[in-house]
Amino acid sequence: MHPDLREVLFTAEQIRVRVGEMARDIAADYREREPVLVAVLDGAVVFLADLMRALPIPVRADFVKWSSYGDSSASSGEVQLLKDLSFSVEGKHVLVVEDIIDTGLTLHYLLETLAARDAASIAVAALLDKPSRRKIEVKLDYVGFQVPDEFVVGYGLDFAQRHRNLPYVAVLKPEVYGREMEPPINHR
Ligand code: IMP
Repeated sequence: MHPDLREVLFTAEQIRVRVGEMARDIAADYREREPVLVAVLDGAVVFLADLMRALPIPVRADFVKWSSYGDSSASSGEVQLLKDLSFSVEGKHVLVVEDIIDTGLTLHYLLETLAARDAASIAVAALLDKPSRRKIEVKLDYVGFQVPDEFVVGYGLDFAQRHRNLPYVAVLKPEVYGREMEPPINHR
């Protein structure tokens, strides 16, 4: 294991099995509706890649990217859409694909944006949920795993752009993020 990491929370095999289960649930719910998977860059790309290949139904995929924010700018509403959707979701069935839901603010902004564009339906699939840090209530339809209030990396999730390529999800040692910045939240 990399020296920056304290423990593995979910192995590659556990993630593979859970993503397969999520895909089965999603496929059953979307049997008669072709979903547009809207993945939030950058962290959700690994989850999206595995989830969409596990889905035995036709899907489309599109991407959005938000500016990073600290707590202060988030509360003053300064978060910005850096990359918008490439096509219209009006009348479409949108399934948001997220790596982790932490405060819920990113997802909240995205759901507001999508609702304003008259999507026919909107649901959310998140690989990880960190409910202890929620600042705003958001409804999650498909969740892979709940995580404790720790900073996790791997399977798309980064710390200072590193560790996204790990095939598992692991807890970062607190002394590692203490060294570079504090707190290490909202890195996309
Ligand atoms: P939220 O807006 O606070 O819910 O934050 C969502 C985003 O923050 C996620 O999409 C991640 O990019 C990032 N994030 C939150 N918690 C973690 C973590 O533990 N590790 C890595 N990134 C995280």
